Amino acid sequence: MTIRTEDELSFDEFDELHDPRTGPAEFDAIAQRFLSRRRFLQGTTAVGASAFVLGTGMLSSSNANASEGLSFDAVSATTEDTITLPPGYKWQTVIRWGDPLWSDAVPFDPVTRGSGSSQERAFGDNTDGMSLFVDAQNNTVLTVNNEFVNRKVIYGNRGSSAPENADDVRKGKAGHGVSVFQVSQQAGQWKPVLDAKYNRRITADTPMTITGPARGHDLLKTAADPTGTTSLGTWNNCANGKTPWGTYLACEENFNGYFSSSDPGFKPTPEMKRYGLRIKDWGYAWATADERFDLSRHPNEPNRAGWVVEIDPLDPTSTPKKRTAMGRLKHENAEVVVAKNNKVVVYLGDDERGEFLYRFISEGTYSAGGDNADLLETGQLSVAKFSDDGRGQWMALTSDTTGMTQAEICIYTRMAASKVGATTMDRPEWITAHPGKAEVYCTLTNNKNRGKKPNAGGDPTPVGGPNPRAGNKYGQIVRWQPDEGDHTADGFAWDLFVTAGNPTVHKDDRAGSKNVTPDNMFNSPDGIAFDSKGRLWIQTDGNYSNAGDFAGQGNNQMLLGNTETGEIKRFMVGPKQCEVTGLCWSPDRKTMFVGIQHPGYKGEGNFPGGGDSVPRSSIVAITRDDGGELG
Ligand code: FEO
Ligand code: CA
Ligand code: CA
Repeated sequence: MTIRTEDELSFDEFDELHDPRTGPAEFDAIAQRFLSRRRFLQGTTAVGASAFVLGTGMLSSSNANASEGLSFDAVSATTEDTITLPPGYKWQTVIRWGDPLWSDAVPFDPVTRGSGSSQERAFGDNTDGMSLFVDAQNNTVLTVNNEFVNRKVIYGNRGSSAPENADDVRKGKAGHGVSVFQVSQQAGQWKPVLDAKYNRRITADTPMTITGPARGHDLLKTAADPTGTTSLGTWNNCANGKTPWGTYLACEENFNGYFSSSDPGFKPTPEMKRYGLRIKDWGYAWATADERFDLSRHPNEPNRAGWVVEIDPLDPTSTPKKRTAMGRLKHENAEVVVAKNNKVVVYLGDDERGEFLYRFISEGTYSAGGDNADLLETGQLSVAKFSDDGRGQWMALTSDTTGMTQAEICIYTRMAASKVGATTMDRPEWITAHPGKAEVYCTLTNNKNRGKKPNAGGDPTPVGGPNPRAGNKYGQIVRWQPDEGDHTADGFAWDLFVTAGNPTVHKDDRAGSKNVTPDNMFNSPDGIAFDSKGRLWIQTDGNYSNAGDFAGQGNNQMLLGNTETGEIKRFMVGPKQCEVTGLCWSPDRKTMFVGIQHPGYKGEGNFPGGGDSVPRSSIVAITRDDGGELG
């Protein structure tokens, strides 16, 4: 086992180290009662929990082809430091961390790794969720989250590999947020269009408007904004959403890791602890240059983060809006669908061990071409409760069900969900809705605490339902069908599309479901999206050691799933130490844009430049040699 320094730990590992969850006796007792109930169900009903452990049972057709309409030879797992694709497909780099968006900006400097001012005019670090927009003149605009910065890389000019002065912090804050830029394809090469009117950097300092039920609440008021209606910046934007009215949703995930306390005796409140706020930050040192991030001086500042932010990428002067109606959590993505009754439904995951899965239903209704600008401002937030019998229910978070005001439900959403007994999940990451029917998929990436420790609020995490394995190392994908095909219905039926695993190492439930084979195995599904043909693309953010429990799985990758047959085929393998995250398609569906986040960030790997170049998070474009569609 490799011993890693704090700086090399993942967000989750760091949180666990500094904020360990203890397993109280009460938790064990609850888990035992739950297990007893499961045995009861198995013994007395036709559909017991064990039926779900193996995941999809739909592999009846041996001729099933995951790539229906898209032929390719599955790619083998590999640890090569490049993009590996099937024969007949090729890739190119579109943009890299530090590439300028304007012609008069300072080009990327691999020695200094840039400055605060150069970073403010360049593509941010750690590319993540992204969407593509087209204007009335058919210009193509990419809008991309820059989730966080790799300190070892962006401060590689410092012996400490850490921010050492105020400009380093400014660079770090500007490496976060959202990058908006036009792209075009010339002579087959996709490139950013420098100086395009849409080009914009949104960073941790960009003015935002706070909307919805929590707007103006006392808990959102600070010294800089006594009205609680505006805030500065967005950061740790993980995955994304796209609305039918042409806006982009940037979802704030691990916002807590940027706050610290200048008072070493400061005691975080229970609410702060639930969201992982502590007196130490995760090494970003923002409070050293911006007192907003000093918890002891500005305890309400973190309440202004953890939201879904709506951005109009085709209006570069627009002010981004924090939509408090969709709750404050460690948001992963925001999957938007229009229900039969034209209400807008947004599915939302809270990515932390034992946190929950949410649904928002707009109060107003969507009308094509109408004024939909504020549909996400008011609506009903609910949280999912799964039963072992394959049924589930959305439980509304209201004053009646939680004893909290509507604003409090929005600000302390995790606590509201705990009050209604929602199902603790194995870290909900992306959610995607099938384009042709009412069926929704969510990646549950892994959860080493499953069946072992409660979540940060003390809620038990019993083994069962859509979280069937203790100490879950590999993850699974749950899917559900709303009753009567209605996304606003309160009931749904669920099953597991796949439980990931390693059938070459394990013979028990860690081998995974039967659609996992030695040829397609992977761990930690994360990014997920349907293409226009109803094919399910799956991206991973997992253990890339290629050893032990993960032997034979290689680097992180992208696979294609057939949701009718359960078949899964590996389409792409990313470079060393990367996470594959973010995907969207060109309007003609002939190019797929894929995000390669933090290649080589722990010291091994030099993607995309190779040699001894600085590794840089990048967006790549994938096309077919024959010029055909792939999405
Ligand atoms: Fe930023 Fe949950 O991944
Ligand atoms: Ca993710
Ligand atoms: Ca992840």
